[in-house]
Amino acid sequence: MTEQHTEMTPDQSRREQAIGIIVREHQGLWRILDLLDQLLSDMNVNEQRPDERLFSRIFDYIQDFSQRVHSSPTDIELYKLLGEKSPETVPLLDKLSRGYLIGHQKLLELRTLLSACMENWPEGREAFSHALARFTEALRKHIRKEEGVIIPRARKLFTPEDWEQIAVARDMENDPLFGERVREEFRELRHQIISYTPERFGGLGLKHEERISAPHASQEMLSISGLATSYGQIEVLHDIDIHINSGEIVSLVGANGAGKSTLLMSISGLRPLDRGRMTFEGKDLAKVSSDQRVAQGIVQVPEGRQVFKDLSVQDNLVLGAYTRGRSQEVRDDLERMYTKFPILRQKRHNLAGELSGGQQQMLAMGRALMARPRLLLLDEPSMGLAPLIIEEIFDIIRELKEEGITIFLVEQNASQALALADRGYVLETGQVVIEGTGRDLLSNEKVREAYLGM
Ligand SMILES: Nc1ncnc2c1ncn2[C@@H]1O[C@H](COP(=O)(O)OP(=O)(O)OP(=O)(O)O)[C@@H](O)[C@H]1O
Ligand SMILES: [Mg+2]
Repeated sequence: MTEQHTEMTPDQSRREQAIGIIVREHQGLWRILDLLDQLLSDMNVNEQRPDERLFSRIFDYIQDFSQRVHSSPTDIELYKLLGEKSPETVPLLDKLSRGYLIGHQKLLELRTLLSACMENWPEGREAFSHALARFTEALRKHIRKEEGVIIPRARKLFTPEDWEQIAVARDMENDPLFGERVREEFRELRHQIISYTPERFGGLGLKHEERISAPHASQEMLSISGLATSYGQIEVLHDIDIHINSGEIVSLVGANGAGKSTLLMSISGLRPLDRGRMTFEGKDLAKVSSDQRVAQGIVQVPEGRQVFKDLSVQDNLVLGAYTRGRSQEVRDDLERMYTKFPILRQKRHNLAGELSGGQQQMLAMGRALMARPRLLLLDEPSMGLAPLIIEEIFDIIRELKEEGITIFLVEQNASQALALADRGYVLETGQVVIEGTGRDLLSNEKVREAYLGM
């Protein structure tokens, strides 16, 4: 984001330091989780008998880690402050705290299942690998919540004094998470794990270093080349080349009728291509139906909201999850939407048609989020809304990015859309005429004149 390029004030750098420590600790865990996945598939696919020492050390590592985090002044301070500042986060904080306790219990079970699996190979494999897979899934979810919700919220709500308080807690001599002695022990455990890990797994190397420290890292997610689309005889998009990297917000600006919505509909699979090629995560989309695209994570919030006006707010949301069957998961997500958009909880039994424009936009976004998008296509989310609501919508878009969703944002409100964007494209009568970073486009003479009214 832009602030990385400018000098940080001491307050900002204290904040980034505190967050950095937490995130780095998580990185260690991510690598362990990846290793567990590899070991799991080695055991299941290659029918390799597990190495008991290696698994035991990994379990030690996770156990130590979670115990320490659970009693670390830094974390306690952060949780406590966040609970005070953001009562709506309290249920999540409680859930995460409970998660630590449950995780502890599950680890004990895993150790028992591991010995059973060793003694009774291969019969014991299934129970062990099943429990292990569920465990790693839960732990990943836990870390994602902390990184995707807790930290962004703290970042948003905490004052410099709060960060100072956290820094003080951290600097207390024997913080069990960050003290020198503890780091030493951790290093030792990690080295043992590495030494027991078969060479072909590449140990706990730097493979995923980027994932968290730079969630905006540049893995191409969507790639469009030479795309053309027509309505009848009239070609409205000509030779479009656009790509979107995972974790980015990319904005597309352009005048009325330039073809912005048509492009989004082509990406969603609602408009056929005349020419050109689109890939999503390297896979060709040519034969992928629009429903399948939703299931794969490409989800569009159409222009003009288009909620089902005669259905309740809640039914609208639930319909967004139509590509997913699992009802418990859907209920959890519904709860998440209500946390994100409290007004929708309040109005959950109202008909969608009774909502204001801004509320309908939130509903449309909430419905799209129910499909668990990885690439969210937003078509003019600010259209026709009052300035204060527009602010709120853009705040939500920022938050979604922090949660790891990649966003392609179509807007006529060019200044805000470009200020938010990592990169942007300008579309004129069906052609990309300018592209660059959000910052570049904001200072581009032509863009300023044509789209920013300057
Ligand atoms: N269903 C349709 N049938 C025929 N022509 C269409 C249709 N929809 C759009 N067009 C034409 O295609 C071109 C691109 O339209 P599109 O809606 O994609 O533009 P846009 O950039 O989204 O515009 P806006 O800012 O008004 O939303 C326009 O010339 C439009 O008139
Ligand atoms: Mg449009």
